[in-house]
Amino acid sequence: MAQQEPEELLEMSSDTRSILEEHDLRPLWEVEDEMGTVLDDPEADIWKWDDIKESIDAIERDVPIADLPPGFQRRVAVPINTANAISNTIYVGIQTVSPGETAPSHRHGANALRFTIDGHEDMKTVVAGEEFPMKDNDLITTPQWEWHDHVNESDETAAWLDVLDLPLVLDSLNAKNTFEYHELERQPVTKSQGYWASQYGRGRAQEDLKEDGIPGPFEGNREPTPPYRFQWEEMVESLHQRADNNDPNPNDGYSLSYVNPASGEPPLFPTMSFRAQLMQEDTDPHFHNMTEVFFVIDGEGITHIGDEAFEWSKWDIFIVPPDEIHHHEPHGEATLLAMTDRPVFEAFNLYAEAEPSS
Ligand SMILES: [Fe+2]
Ligand SMILES: [Fe+2]
Repeated sequence: MAQQEPEELLEMSSDTRSILEEHDLRPLWEVEDEMGTVLDDPEADIWKWDDIKESIDAIERDVPIADLPPGFQRRVAVPINTANAISNTIYVGIQTVSPGETAPSHRHGANALRFTIDGHEDMKTVVAGEEFPMKDNDLITTPQWEWHDHVNESDETAAWLDVLDLPLVLDSLNAKNTFEYHELERQPVTKSQGYWASQYGRGRAQEDLKEDGIPGPFEGNREPTPPYRFQWEEMVESLHQRADNNDPNPNDGYSLSYVNPASGEPPLFPTMSFRAQLMQEDTDPHFHNMTEVFFVIDGEGITHIGDEAFEWSKWDIFIVPPDEIHHHEPHGEATLLAMTDRPVFEAFNLYAEAEPSS
């Protein structure tokens, strides 16, 4: 008689199976293999700017923001890789606002930021009562539960990258009731320009200091990340100072993290971390369990991910999935925005990275 396979030894009688099914129970050995497969596996992929541009121009022609249904009044093209986003944790979208248009005020539980692709001094994102001009490559935070609307008072269409932790909040956590519209299309501007930056500069208001001297929450119960505009001219100056005075990081080039202005340290959000990285030479391969999404700020090059090679140039978007070995080969000097879910892994003490053994 043939020896029984282990699987057959685990087979339950039909009576046992129906008892468990009747009570909504399943044996662990059957469930275990399915764990971790509810969400789609992201794949290495690239979205070229020419294709994105053709798409955002087409929807801008067809769809005024005012015609969009309530709850979706943002004109955005979304790179799709997993079920409905570029990854299982980070969402990116490319949003446009035409001259004279307003994307009405709302707020939500997801963390968000704008990275300006094609901006203008008179293109404003209004966050927590302050108008932030959106100049090229500026990064502006929209922390959880802050009202925000986008108002284009320039004579050019503005485009930017929206980055949110939506797949994490909506899919993984399945958090409901995390969205609210403002009663007005445009929230009242209650702060002068530069207010939020001034609150996180070198001077701190005395009444905002906790007893131990650590800067405390501002204006009551604030979320950990404040509204803030990281001006590109300051970031790019820091990157070049870094390149002139320091050795590059072997895997990321000259790499600077965007800090949470309240703490002075990364990550920028509890769920997402952001870096600007300037590369002048090929980087060494490495891999990690976090997801890494890149936006090409400037320059061109090739990124090798697993056994694929992705050629990129200005304003392309590409993704390095978890555990894929990757390295960058810039053609001359190139600058990338890197977006990761590393803080989530670190919160659970699960973050890991390594270089492949040669
Ligand atoms: Fe929003
Ligand atoms: Fe990496």
